[in-house]
Amino acid sequence: MTSGLTTVAYIGASILFILSLAGLSKQTTARRGNLLGMGGMVIAIVATIALALDQSERPVGVTAALIVGVLLIGALVGTWRARSVEMTQMPELIAILHSFVGAAAVLIGFNSYLTEGHDAVHLIEVFLGVFIGAVTFTGSIVAFLKLSARMKSSPLTLPGRHALNLAGLVVSLGLGAWFVAAPSVLPLILMTVIALAIGFHLVAAIGGGDMPVVVSMLNSYSGWAAAAAGFMLGNDLLIVVGALVGSSGAILSYIMCKAMNRKFLAVILGGFGGDGAAPSAASEGPQGEHTEVSVAETVELLSAARSVVIAPGYGMAVAKAQYPVAELVTRLRSRGVKVRFAVHPVAGRLPGHMNVLLAEARVPYDIVLELDEINEDFADTDVVLVIGANDTVNPAALEDPGSPIAGMPVLEVWNAEQVVVFKRSMATGYAGVQNPLFFRDNTAMLFGDAKTQVEAIVAAMPATEAVDA
Ligand code: TAP
Repeated sequence: MTSGLTTVAYIGASILFILSLAGLSKQTTARRGNLLGMGGMVIAIVATIALALDQSERPVGVTAALIVGVLLIGALVGTWRARSVEMTQMPELIAILHSFVGAAAVLIGFNSYLTEGHDAVHLIEVFLGVFIGAVTFTGSIVAFLKLSARMKSSPLTLPGRHALNLAGLVVSLGLGAWFVAAPSVLPLILMTVIALAIGFHLVAAIGGGDMPVVVSMLNSYSGWAAAAAGFMLGNDLLIVVGALVGSSGAILSYIMCKAMNRKFLAVILGGFGGDGAAPSAASEGPQGEHTEVSVAETVELLSAARSVVIAPGYGMAVAKAQYPVAELVTRLRSRGVKVRFAVHPVAGRLPGHMNVLLAEARVPYDIVLELDEINEDFADTDVVLVIGANDTVNPAALEDPGSPIAGMPVLEVWNAEQVVVFKRSMATGYAGVQNPLFFRDNTAMLFGDAKTQVEAIVAAMPATEAVDA
């Protein structure tokens, strides 16, 4: 009886999750998408608890107390982290959350093997689930360490690293055959150790600018790990949700690869953005004289401009400059200046990072354009303000075949009449390569914290009424 109701609830939750994904695909419907997803999750949790209580072999009170106990601990930790996390720490938080899904799949796999029957299909489910879970677990931990700068972001390039991965895979296949033919926990443990090492090595070998793909790839892996756990537990909803996360993560990885003009396989095989790539001399060290500009001079430039484009990047997130930037946009627009944002697909440290910040500061969606939509327009732009962006506006990607970011489409800001770069120093960006943009004749550097500098510009730029007076 309960299982019939559970099935209905699971179908309802699955539909809500699909509608949620559809909603999340557009900024204007993203809030509704989130609410639908939350609704689906509430239904899923209530239905699963009801089923667990119905099928409980212990006294129902004990099962209920156990579930409430873990839910409370999870909710407390989750609420604390959600409230305290900085926007700039979101990528690493997401990476560590993926590792939890991986760990859960490994634990469920072992539990399922030790407590349930040993027919061949179930054994294969267990073996695959533990393998994907273990790779996801260590891979996500390495991604967490790299994104939070606790581990160097350059790739680990061991000699014969592809052969090592392949050997790990072949040995795991052999262990799988052993596990199915003569079920015992030994091949399962040996494979887990190998899969943990593969996960570590796979992500450690990916460096520099390829990290966006790693984040979305691990998102996809965590989905497949959840789907595998669904098979082991015989839980249809977990299979559906896992498949949704797995495939949307895979699509996102594809989009990220396209944005960076990289082949998915080349990213997975790693070794990009470091010593393996032998950067050309031009991508290292300073490349001439740069020009500095003051706040007052920037205000003058803006006052004379008819068309302004703002290219935001990771530094805007670090400085939390989105609010003064939004105010600056309001002031410029009230003076009749055409203002637009140019958002690179991998700007920041998270897919959609800039869009989230700009939406938070209530910048109208229709002036936020993507790379393809705006790249042609720079030639007709008077002033480009590059606010904390670096790799995503680096001309070396197009002009220097030896550059570690060669081939990545970038915002061609240098085609504008004047570029002002807001950053604190001449330091490199995430990929660790020098940026020739800073040394161009039509580029000026405005050094300092992006928020402080934009606030100073806003303060020096009176609202329209004052100008008219
Ligand atoms: P980055 O190349 O990361 O450069 C950011 C710049 O912001 C730095 O050069 C830094 O220069 C400046 N900055 C930092 N704090 C600042 C502050 N308080 N005020 C002013 N400037 C500040 O930025 P990007 O153009 O957004 O490129 C993103 C990079 O991250 C790409 O290489 C991308 O592949 C990688 N990545 C992206 C993702 C996703 S999914 N978006 C995930 C992982 C990695 P100073 O230190 O001199 O101030």
